[in-house]
Amino acid sequence: MGNLNEDSEFWDGFWKKNSLDEINEYSWPQVSKAYGLKRILDYFDGDIRGLSVLECGCGSAEVSKKLLVKGAKCDLLDISKVGLERTTQQIREMGYEVNSFLGDVNCIEGLTGNKKYDLIYSGGLLHHIKDLGPAVDSMKNSLTKNGVIIADIIPKKFSLQTIADFEKSFIYFLRNIYNRDFSNIFSMHTHIPKTFVSERLPKEYEETFKQYDLSAEVYTATIYPSFALPKFLEKIYSRILISKYSFWKSLYIRESRLLNLLSISFTLYAKRKSYE
Ligand SMILES: C[S@@+](CC[C@H](N)C(=O)[O-])C[C@H]1O[C@@H](n2cnc3c(N)ncnc32)[C@H](O)[C@@H]1O
Repeated sequence: MGNLNEDSEFWDGFWKKNSLDEINEYSWPQVSKAYGLKRILDYFDGDIRGLSVLECGCGSAEVSKKLLVKGAKCDLLDISKVGLERTTQQIREMGYEVNSFLGDVNCIEGLTGNKKYDLIYSGGLLHHIKDLGPAVDSMKNSLTKNGVIIADIIPKKFSLQTIADFEKSFIYFLRNIYNRDFSNIFSMHTHIPKTFVSERLPKEYEETFKQYDLSAEVYTATIYPSFALPKFLEKIYSRILISKYSFWKSLYIRESRLLNLLSISFTLYAKRKSYE
């Protein structure tokens, strides 16, 4: 990424504003995290007891919290002191021990003392990293022999979400009129923060990982868009999505044109080539 201090300041501000206590279990972001967890469990055939995991860019570490309960040993890494301290505290209150590393994903070895992991997971991190190579190299160096990198990524590209963003913008427009807030009345609401999300497409991620002697495959993750819905409808929508996991799973796509067209977010799996 660009300037490390600026980035950590930005994310500290982000985690100060976003209280973890406000996370609503039945919301679009929670559905996508629940599916992130399911994809990890699928990969390990449901048995993750004793698995050593590093969650990079953990934020509120929703996925690690669930993995810990299922018997994995999780460490956390994040560039935001505010987010990391709060999440670590929450996990300790849940009765689990975690090692927490404050720093950049491109220098994992230095932070962890060269510890190796069976799974390096990141959700919503890699599209914030401008120079992906050093981060990929660092993740690779921190993998066990058969370890795997699983990453959930949202690229800035056209998708069903682009269409859903018109609905969101219209609802926010009406809300602003109702609240007599005319300052940003015509601004387009985009699901994805403009300044921070890279435009790398799935294939480009695969190519970067392959340059580091890793096999890499990218699949669709989220095809269903996020709308601006009243709370009760958001709850119904999320419940339906959660109950239809096997349907969405049957639509896993790798073929790059369809993948580029349909996917709002996607999941990347990478392993060392030499050990395959
Ligand atoms: C969009 S949030 C995702 C948080 C969480 N994984 C989730 O799915 O809710 C991105 C997280 O990555 C962290 N982050 C951003 N750049 C980073 C970097 N270069 N190294 C490590 N963490 C970083 C941020 O502090 C933030 O917590």
